[in-house]
Amino acid sequence: MAGAVQRRISVFPGSFYPLTLGHVGVIERAAALFDLVVLGVLDNPDKTNLFSSGERVSLLRTAVGNLDHVEVESFSGLAVDFAARVGARWIVRGVRSASDVAYELPMVHSNRLCGAEEIETILIPTRPDLAFISSSLVRQIAAARGKLDRFGPPDVERALREKFAG
Ligand code: PNS
Repeated sequence: MAGAVQRRISVFPGSFYPLTLGHVGVIERAAALFDLVVLGVLDNPDKTNLFSSGERVSLLRTAVGNLDHVEVESFSGLAVDFAARVGARWIVRGVRSASDVAYELPMVHSNRLCGAEEIETILIPTRPDLAFISSSLVRQIAAARGKLDRFGPPDVERALREKFAG
């Protein structure tokens, strides 16, 4: 008897503070691998001075909500608990460099120990032409009122321009 086909669901947790074109590249690659990718915006009270988690969720929905297989939610607490809540068996993280891999590996192992063992964390490389982009770089450029069209989606650029206007 054939069993029910299980949807392959992953989560991509992050601060997305803000979303960059590098993130978008990883999201596109994850969307090609899974039936559903749920982007999890960390509701981090320490980081609410620029964009609240609600603002980041709506920026992500505008920028990538049109992609097939992609949804956006906010979460607090552990990424593994968020994954379990949405029925995901995979946690996706993007890596730009060997130092990102070194930073992520303890989290890969911790996720395994903190959550159900069937939840696996996988690292997806960023597009090489976007591997220099980071959210902190984008915030610096935005604060100096530089051009952001090569760094972030148009709505993120617009939202940052409004934050730093005046
Ligand atoms: O975009 P970031 O800031 O690199 O994202 C970091 C994030 C949100 C993935 C990480 O801080 C996280 O997963 N926080 C939730 C707590 C958690 O699950 N930590 C892992 C150890 S078990």
